[in-house]
Amino acid sequence: MAKSTFSNLVLVFLFLTCYFSPSLAQNAIQLPLKAVNLGNWLVIEGWMNRSLFDNIPNKDLLDGTKVQFKSTKLQKYLCSENGGGTTVVANRDNASGWETFRLWRNNESSFNFRVFNKQFVGLVNQGQGNTLVAVSNDPGDSETFRIIRNEDDPNRVRIRTANGLFLQAQSDSPVTADYEGSSWDDNDPSVFEMTIVSGIQGEYQISNGYGPERASQVLQDHRSTYITEDDFRFMSSNGLNAVRVPVGWWIAHDPTPPHPFVSGSLQALDNAFQWAQNYGMKVIIDLHAVQGSQNGNEHSGTRDGFQEWGDAYMQDTVSVIDFLAARYGNKTNLAAIGLMNEPMSPGVTLDTLIRYYQLGYNAVRKYTSSAYVILSNRLGPADSKELLSFAGGLANVAIDVHYYNLYSDSFRSMNVQQNIDFVYNQRSSDLSAVTTPNGPLSFVGEWCGEIAMRGASKEDYQRFGKAQLDVYGRATFGWAYWAYKCDAKYWSLRLYLKQTMYSFMMVEDKSVGEYIDEFNKLILDLENIGVTIEDKDQALLLLNYSPKSFAHTLDKMFYGRESITLDDVQSTLNSKELN
Ligand SMILES: *[C@@H]1O[C@H](CO)[C@@H](O)[C@H](O)[C@H]1NC(C)=O
Ligand SMILES: *[C@@H]1O[C@H](CO)[C@@H](O)[C@H](O)[C@H]1NC(C)=O
Ligand SMILES: *[C@@H]1O[C@H](CO)[C@@H](O)[C@H](O)[C@H]1NC(C)=O
Ligand SMILES: *[C@@H]1O[C@H](CO)[C@@H](O)[C@H](O)[C@H]1NC(C)=O
Repeated sequence: MAKSTFSNLVLVFLFLTCYFSPSLAQNAIQLPLKAVNLGNWLVIEGWMNRSLFDNIPNKDLLDGTKVQFKSTKLQKYLCSENGGGTTVVANRDNASGWETFRLWRNNESSFNFRVFNKQFVGLVNQGQGNTLVAVSNDPGDSETFRIIRNEDDPNRVRIRTANGLFLQAQSDSPVTADYEGSSWDDNDPSVFEMTIVSGIQGEYQISNGYGPERASQVLQDHRSTYITEDDFRFMSSNGLNAVRVPVGWWIAHDPTPPHPFVSGSLQALDNAFQWAQNYGMKVIIDLHAVQGSQNGNEHSGTRDGFQEWGDAYMQDTVSVIDFLAARYGNKTNLAAIGLMNEPMSPGVTLDTLIRYYQLGYNAVRKYTSSAYVILSNRLGPADSKELLSFAGGLANVAIDVHYYNLYSDSFRSMNVQQNIDFVYNQRSSDLSAVTTPNGPLSFVGEWCGEIAMRGASKEDYQRFGKAQLDVYGRATFGWAYWAYKCDAKYWSLRLYLKQTMYSFMMVEDKSVGEYIDEFNKLILDLENIGVTIEDKDQALLLLNYSPKSFAHTLDKMFYGRESITLDDVQSTLNSKELN
């Protein structure tokens, strides 16, 4: 019998090891925390639920999408010479960085093109018509282009400039903006084959993609349905005692955040505090997206993926922290404020980061001495101990480390046992290195159940999860699972926890009637969160998780049968001989 197929998932350990008592004294933060990240709620990450983007017109051409254009006539790629700062030509056989353009979207058909060195493509009049260059740092009309897509093949495009004429690529000379034809013929010098290299689906993209009128509605709907008070009830009843809430810098400008961001995330965070309070839970505010982008990832709120946070944005970012600390600093269930999620080395230097962390720490301490201040380690090439001596001089701080066995080729080639060994050896020693007796506390602020290898069974996932809980359970501030809800199933803690309900069903002292009732309730619950289990699998589940007292009889009755229906099992269970 396919016992492994439906084995209980690992977070049953939450029940066993992390029972939380809500009757604690008011302000005391009981450590270590067992938290979950409310990812994709107040800072959108498209990969966690792509369908949010479904109704955006030209949704494959959002801000930050990287495109390449190949002239169909010349069979050559457009290239900003030297990566930017001079002319744009159409003479390359291969496309790489200089041949790649990042979109800034004005509306569904109007765009600016940002090049490798960050300038924008635009026109200069050099006497022989308008010549294409990439020299401007500030896109205006000359830097604005319409992408006209072929109705039959949306990746055949012609590019119209502000003067109403089309770009054309002739021989090796610079590209010009002086073509009046309208043919889609391959020999037409204005026709290009557009390759979409990659896209970004973050808060900027969804807000700007829907445009001012619709974005507000879409995001309000999302925020009010994705996480509700009922989720806090669910989390607390499953042994979690805190949430980590990623927020974006625009929250500090609510209710009138700068374009294209829309208001409402502040009210949602207020709600989170209230709901957490109702269920005895703590809140960690995590400044996940900062102006300029600290890592270029879609969850940093970036427009185009360039990492530009630094001194120029420091004061504004400190102001966001000041705003959050002023508003929530005296909430009894504020556990911590994270000053910046995942700054990326080397773009964010250690020196700049430490100066920012000191200012952010001071801002929090103006309002509260008891809330922790969380300092995220840098991603990328950086020593995991680089913040320890600085943090040693501060009170109530924690170092945040994120452990995913993903995102690197080395994990792709590991089998399950190697992943588990890696957790017990490497992660364990990494965590020990930032867990020092008199220094800052340690916090595994993100980890998840997903593994890079393909074809892992549920039992594999269970063992991998157990290893992580064993090791990350030693973090002195605690851990936060990524994430509460996610379309990808091994990322969704909610799904894990739902599945642990199976374990309750094995309790022996139930009548068959109660047992079947409970089973049907569980199936309904799962359906309510979008998990449908087919009838034949329900039959197997019933067989696998029946109390031992009648499992043996069931086993004998169905042993060797090729197919079993749900009806077979239910009627057997209901039959007198088992009662
Ligand atoms: C680049 O183009 C040249 C032809 O000019 C070709 O020989 C070469 O294989 C291409 N390189 C790559 C990496 O595609
Ligand atoms: C997009 O913006 C351009 C100006 O940049 C304007 O001419 C055009 O009508 C707009 N298109 C839509 C669909 O709003
Ligand atoms: C918390 O701070 C707010 C704003 O500073 C203030 O209005 C409120 O009275 C404070 N509450 C407590 C319990 O100190
Ligand atoms: C993803 O978004 C859609 C549309 O908003 C929603 O119906 C669905 O429940 C979401 N999925 C998850 C896992 O939240």
